[in-house]
Amino acid sequence: MQSDSSALPKSVTAEKVLEVRHWTDELFSLRVTRPASFRFRSGEFVMLGLMGEERPLLRAYSIASPSWDDGLDFFSIKVQDGPLTSRLQHIKEGDTILLGRKPTGTLVLDALTPGKRLYMLSTGTGIAPFASLIREPEAYEKFDQIILTHTCRNVADLGYGRRLVDSLERDPLVGEMVGGKLTYYATTTREDFPTKGRITDLIQDGRIFADLGIAPLNPREDRVMICGSMAMLRDTKSIVESLGFTEGSNANPGDFVVERAFVD
Ligand code: A2P
Repeated sequence: MQSDSSALPKSVTAEKVLEVRHWTDELFSLRVTRPASFRFRSGEFVMLGLMGEERPLLRAYSIASPSWDDGLDFFSIKVQDGPLTSRLQHIKEGDTILLGRKPTGTLVLDALTPGKRLYMLSTGTGIAPFASLIREPEAYEKFDQIILTHTCRNVADLGYGRRLVDSLERDPLVGEMVGGKLTYYATTTREDFPTKGRITDLIQDGRIFADLGIAPLNPREDRVMICGSMAMLRDTKSIVESLGFTEGSNANPGDFVVERAFVD
């Protein structure tokens, strides 16, 4: 079957790939056109994919660009035998990609009660929704400090986040708000780097708070967003719950929210 738009289900639109960037052998990002009718809240995810033999092959991806941006950014791993990413990793500028019409998710500012500091805890491609949120002016209006943590196996895996954070000062919308409010805390687990260790361990042994010179994580002042692998979500969630944080949702805002980093 051809991927002509007549064969497309109503739940998706055909978009054009504007840019592809390969960060490592295992990580790439892409930018695609945004339909005029596509509305979402920074931090949400959407179905993304390609036409398969008979039907579209779609996976949920966090949108890595903010809600005010003209295009839509995504950050993906490459799974060599993954049904979608084994193909998606070969996509090129000008190709067609399928985009779901209904973004959704709980990793949004609306699902959190007011607080002083906002922690965004991520591993691997779990940084994607935070790439969106750190460019969202509302995040800086609502919180005095935003602490973005990103933990990866190797130093090269941090490249996407590092570059994004570095570019923020020049960002036309949030550039001036970011100064002094955004703290970026990167760590690796399998290669030498100034800060080493899993974020779960760095929270539990207090190293992150000592490094940043701030009070230990507490539900009176802090709000937390968590995005990573299933194991990371489970362990991080259990730590914040043991500290007295309660989980929020769109219907019931709380002290922390969790989202799985949808991979393959
Ligand atoms: P580690 O190297 O110790 O496994 P992955 O690529 O497997 O998703 O891992 C991305 C990063 O998340 C790695 O640095 C990895 O550390 C870390 N990680 C994996 N599992 C957990 C977990 N349960 N809690 C916290 N961090 C984790």
